Amino acid sequence: MSNIILTGDRPTGRLHLGHYVGSLKNRVKLQNESNYDDMFVMIADAQALTDNFDNPSKVRDNVIEVALDYLSVGIDPNKVSLFVQSEVSELTELTFYYMNLVTLSRLQRNPTVKSELSLRGFEGSIPSGFLNYPVSQTADITAFKANIIPVGDDQLPMIEQAREIVHSFNSIYGDVLVMPNAVLPKSTLECRLPGLDGKAKMSKSLGNCIFLADSEEEVRKKVFSMYTDPNHIRIEDPGSVEGNMVFTYLDVFCKPGDFEKYLPEYKSLDELKAHYKKGGLGDVVIKKFLNNILQEELRPIREKRKELENNIEYVYESLKKGTKHAREVASKTLKEVKDSMKINYFEDPSYLEEIKNKYKQQ
Ligand code: TRP
Repeated sequence: MSNIILTGDRPTGRLHLGHYVGSLKNRVKLQNESNYDDMFVMIADAQALTDNFDNPSKVRDNVIEVALDYLSVGIDPNKVSLFVQSEVSELTELTFYYMNLVTLSRLQRNPTVKSELSLRGFEGSIPSGFLNYPVSQTADITAFKANIIPVGDDQLPMIEQAREIVHSFNSIYGDVLVMPNAVLPKSTLECRLPGLDGKAKMSKSLGNCIFLADSEEEVRKKVFSMYTDPNHIRIEDPGSVEGNMVFTYLDVFCKPGDFEKYLPEYKSLDELKAHYKKGGLGDVVIKKFLNNILQEELRPIREKRKELENNIEYVYESLKKGTKHAREVASKTLKEVKDSMKINYFEDPSYLEEIKNKYKQQ
């Protein structure tokens, strides 16, 4: 069996550090391993329209922003097909046939859909397109026969729904679709990096993000505004590291060698934490340390982005090339799907034979 990787994001804003640790870093790692046959990363503009249908220019503007973010973190369009969902119309066609295999109540029970409905105030009058997006996501996955779907844990109900549809399709029409598997980030922290305010997951709508495209100064300002321990008022006061975002981020981003380079007075994160807990360590020191670490991580991404912004046609051509390949693959699958459903009247020569025989004059 071949290994096909597929994943994607809705283009509703620039990507941030949460996306970076939760998925982008891992995608770059995956693309550089050689144990897969094909890899796709999709810009899910059609899905983004299911809850932004009244704001199409937001989606349009962010298609290229997200593509820039992908390429700046190191996704290589020669290894990965980067594509735009709406340009692969086969996906919409597959969605229509899969809709027969899902009940309304099953969609309404999907936990991700449920929480998004309440977040968007859609509960009273649910747009059917929105309710149906898990079905369209099943099309995204199955069109490429993807078996490896690297996602955050919020997407587990989507993959579960896709698995049910695949099972149901294959048992009715024959074994055509491939069963997808979700692959989650290693740690829960990486799965959902909290925002700068420590309140919830980093998210654009909550305004608690560091964006990959932020300037050095913006990143510094944001790090210095991070939520630490409100009871740690004077340097001498003992401080708490739990729920302290600077330490949470250090847990995620601090690498061997960082102390030597930026804070040689300490040997390890444990030692730094112990001092903070005991008292006598100010927030400015730990924030400066985190800022240095994040700047080192983000600098090459920012520089790559600048380079790509000056060569935007390359980004556009990469998307176009990836989309072309995606269409070729998806149209093959669509053909198999339609063959198995017996809706291939003009492609299947035996159809004419069948009807000729049936209506032959006796
Ligand atoms: N729902 C995903 C998100 O909100 C984006 C997405 C669309 C996706 N289709 C997909 C992810 C298929 C993985 C596989 O981020």
